[in-house]
Amino acid sequence: MATDQYHEPIELLDEDTRDITRIIKSIQEEFEAVDWYNQRMNATNDEGLRDVLKHNRDEELEHAAMGIEWLRRHLPELDSELRENLFTEGPIGHHDEEEGEEEATDNKDLNIGKIKR
Ligand SMILES: [Fe+2]
Repeated sequence: MATDQYHEPIELLDEDTRDITRIIKSIQEEFEAVDWYNQRMNATNDEGLRDVLKHNRDEELEHAAMGIEWLRRHLPELDSELRENLFTEGPIGHHDEEEGEEEATDNKDLNIGKIKR
């Protein structure tokens, strides 16, 4: 069994936590594949090969998105962050009207224990 991906003793990790590790590792691998295909498609001088590599890159993007969606459905805090930060306009990560409120929430969240699902 592959245990090198865990930073805590595996016997302390429940199945939900292991599944989250599995999908995070998978998302990481999908984006690595995206990067490799993207580099290759931009490096080649062969137009036909570029088309194949672009197709493969775009399929890896779909796989990555599917993994992110699974993780979003199983990690409510990620769902909240994605809803707040994706598909916005203007400077990234800048939320004028919510900054005070966000700090208060962050401090309160420090005492959160296990992820609730
Ligand atoms: Fe993939």
